Amino acid sequence: MKLATRIIHAGAEPDPSTGAIMVPVYQTSTYVQIAPGQNKGYEYARSQNPTRTALESAFAVLENAKFGLSFSSGVAATDAVIKLLSPGDEVIASNDLYGGSYRLFSKIFQKFGIKFHYINMLDADHISDYINNNTKLIWIETPTNPLMNITDIEAVAAIAKQHKVMVCVDNTFASPYLQNPLDLGADIALHSATKYLGGHSDVIHGCLMLNDAELREKLFFIQKSCGAVPGPQDCFLVHRGIKTLHVRMQRHCENGEKVAHFLRNHPKVEKVYWCGFEDHPNYDIARKQMRGFGGMMSFTLKDDSKETAYKVLSSTRVFALAESLGGVESLINHPASMTHASIPREERIKNGLSDSLIRLSVGIEDADDLIEDLNQAMG
Ligand SMILES: Cc1ncc(COP(=O)(O)O)c(C=O)c1O
Repeated sequence: MKLATRIIHAGAEPDPSTGAIMVPVYQTSTYVQIAPGQNKGYEYARSQNPTRTALESAFAVLENAKFGLSFSSGVAATDAVIKLLSPGDEVIASNDLYGGSYRLFSKIFQKFGIKFHYINMLDADHISDYINNNTKLIWIETPTNPLMNITDIEAVAAIAKQHKVMVCVDNTFASPYLQNPLDLGADIALHSATKYLGGHSDVIHGCLMLNDAELREKLFFIQKSCGAVPGPQDCFLVHRGIKTLHVRMQRHCENGEKVAHFLRNHPKVEKVYWCGFEDHPNYDIARKQMRGFGGMMSFTLKDDSKETAYKVLSSTRVFALAESLGGVESLINHPASMTHASIPREERIKNGLSDSLIRLSVGIEDADDLIEDLNQAMG
């Protein structure tokens, strides 16, 4: 079946006890057992919940994966992947990545003896220079948050395989509608389901999709031991959101393209970071591995002061000034003080994330209204 049909029916079996077409919210902490050790597949809700099981099947379908695992947040899913490692192990990660991932790596896991190398991943071959016997994981974010850099997943996965190193791709910005890392050779696809999968800015959620049964067992064990599980109501909301992923993403892409071109032609705009421009440094790779370019972008103004950026950030009427992305409504964000505030300033500037950079999550409203809003905000 085609993607749109699979997305709508993914994990959605009518409820066996009533025929309810929507998977019910199983609001329960435990399950009655027939005799000790004899149960219906569910024992205690930190390990299993039927609303979550249905969602996990949907997650697997979205990434053409054998397994899906559902977490209480995107960060919880990231945390579980890093907990596969041991002291002395090394990770190679993009130098432009979500600030919360950087914070988790540098402020939590580094002190447990895991070493992180933050590198430019525009050229896959550059990665080989950092691989040694201790390297266990390559962490790719593509497109990156917030500079929209693109990494060649297939090329990195090929290098990683030669060295028996695992590859995890944070696929949040693209969504599974636009990009499928496992099909390109990655071992794990990760999403902050808070974003495009949920799609309505009403839930915090994360997930991992993968094909290896042994790896799935290890991650499931970490999750059940550490407890970063989602509640059934949240699973229900994400599952409902997924059913419209394809139509939402089509509109995000259409609006994204219109807004990106409007910004590029605006006399007050200096630079627009959007991977759908033909002169984007890795445009060819984006075209190869993505089905569209999405609604995420960043830009700087010719008057490169924080004050002017703040004025624009505070003047929009349709774009709401808020953290997060991927919802139906458009958001405007200041990475330096919001989503990426946990990255030290020198580190940020070195990697091209300036104090005046503005990030947009272009929603699915009428594109004309979005353009008019940005136009009036820039004066
Ligand atoms: C690219 C990316 N990965 C991971 C996360 C973390 O997800 P969550 O906020 O659901 O924990 C975010 C959050 O903004 C993100 O943008």
